[in-house]
Amino acid sequence: MIIGSEKDVTTAVLSELKRTKNPRLREILSALVRRLHDFAREVKLTEEEFQAAIGYIVALGKHTSETHNEAVLMSGSLGFSTLICLLNNGNRGQTETDANLLGPFWRMDSPPTPNGSSIVRSPTPGPALFVEAWFHDAKGKPIEGAEVDIWQSSPEGFYENQDPVQADMNLRGKFTTDENGHIGFRSVKPAGYPIPIDGPVGELLRAQGRHNMRPAHLHFLVYKPSFKTLISQLYVPDDKHIETDVQFGVTRLLIGNYLRHAEPCNRAADVKPPWYSLEHTFVMEKGTARLPKPPITGKAEGERPAIPHLEPAE
Ligand SMILES: [Fe+2]
Repeated sequence: MIIGSEKDVTTAVLSELKRTKNPRLREILSALVRRLHDFAREVKLTEEEFQAAIGYIVALGKHTSETHNEAVLMSGSLGFSTLICLLNNGNRGQTETDANLLGPFWRMDSPPTPNGSSIVRSPTPGPALFVEAWFHDAKGKPIEGAEVDIWQSSPEGFYENQDPVQADMNLRGKFTTDENGHIGFRSVKPAGYPIPIDGPVGELLRAQGRHNMRPAHLHFLVYKPSFKTLISQLYVPDDKHIETDVQFGVTRLLIGNYLRHAEPCNRAADVKPPWYSLEHTFVMEKGTARLPKPPITGKAEGERPAIPHLEPAE
């Protein structure tokens, strides 16, 4: 079709899209083109702004490597990753869900760890944390034999793969649920940490007057055939960024009941108050058990990353 006016452009593209054989791809592309064209009309996008947007997309690619994905970081920073998670879990967004973001630090082959033992594998100063977690199906029946991967940052806010001070696989472990669908382990209380701001995501956050912090959390990945693999995080409620997670991951259900104990601890002789406990029951949905592609494969070389903290605008 020959274009006669700005409106004709949309009609022409939609008309050509009808050739797309895959019906789902046709549906997605058609909706995308309609909204993208309407978006440009609505904001009256200038040529300079369009060029800047193209440059921005190129920069996302240039800042992506084998160990860092700037596009995922961008998607999280716009709330899109959490939106997709909530649309696709909890009976397609109908009910609350334990599902949450994977994040960039999951590693395969966490060390198998017996229930009740510790995931602190090298000296890691910080308050002790005792975690008890249960895994049930939608009817409340315990799920036995599920593999549960745990990973977390240190009380200084570093994952072991970023931190030469920590042993390989420190604060990571793979547990197997018992007949009650239960795992338990000892760790240290995680800290929040900044996301990188040396690329286009940093530029976006500065322009918006936002900080770049994630509130403290524990990560869970739960695998059991015939259940949809559950990826989750439990957030620390007293973290000052709990309301303003830069990745918008904090949902009401996943604010963990981390309890602070000032009394002496009867669980282990070497624990000094204050120490923390955390209990949570996760619900898994029926579905296909599938592992995600690991975002990283090993420990990084060299120093701890020095990621600056952005101060939020008033
Ligand atoms: Fe994390």
